Amino acid sequence: MTWGLQNRLSRIIRPTDHRTVMLAVDHGYFLGPTHKLEVPRKTIEPLLPYADGLMITRGVVRTSIDPTFPTPIVLRVSGGASVLKEDLSHEEVTTSMDEAVRLNASAVALSIFVGAPHEHESLVNLGGLVDIGEEIGMPVLAVTAVGKELEKRDARYLSLACRIAAEFGAHFVKTYYCEDFEKVVESCPVPLVVAGGPKLETELDALELAQRSIEAGAAGVDMGRNIWQAPNAVGMIRAVRAVVHEHASAKEALEFVKAPKAKR
Ligand code: R5P
Repeated sequence: MTWGLQNRLSRIIRPTDHRTVMLAVDHGYFLGPTHKLEVPRKTIEPLLPYADGLMITRGVVRTSIDPTFPTPIVLRVSGGASVLKEDLSHEEVTTSMDEAVRLNASAVALSIFVGAPHEHESLVNLGGLVDIGEEIGMPVLAVTAVGKELEKRDARYLSLACRIAAEFGAHFVKTYYCEDFEKVVESCPVPLVVAGGPKLETELDALELAQRSIEAGAAGVDMGRNIWQAPNAVGMIRAVRAVVHEHASAKEALEFVKAPKAKR
């Protein structure tokens, strides 16, 4: 790993504890104005001080994030299918590495669709992106996307998808939590961050997901809807931070959600 690449990655996965709380707000690239992310700036701004990294598209960076804000950017650079299509796997690289550098991104993110109709293209895209990333010192985050097939989220499938991502050279991988998640972690030689997925019934459910992910060996979370669709979104991201960075249990962290102004 070159110095620049390592330096960029360490802005996201903190070298002090090798963990991260990334905030995912890139949903609009295929979902359009997702519930509670209709006006991106309004949702994102209060949460930024608590995020170690912001997963986002170039359009929302330009229009909705103050360039003086120091939160590292993980730039979503793949896309090409909307939720209106049955097959979400038909993606290409839609944002160049030059653009990522201009936006001072700390990493770029691309989805792979293992087992889906466009598996091949998505994996070849990953390989190509890693080649350019290595050349210029930009870490690549591979996202093991399942499209609409949420039931694919089991240890057998996710181990396969994460391992393939790592074999193609991804510097870190974003995936889903599942039962026996430690098996997914064990067979993936690069750090894993866990997506929250669709909003769970309670905040405690989402915090437990974060806690179990960390206990199983994840480097952190890249969570979206379970943070910004929560009634107290700032309290929720602070609670997630407590679980990821401060060894709090999900139940202990819940105090942030209940008492948003409580100091710690
Ligand atoms: C999906 O591919 C998007 O890239 C999101 O970043 C991802 O799903 C994480 O957000 P959430 O926690 O809402 O699932």
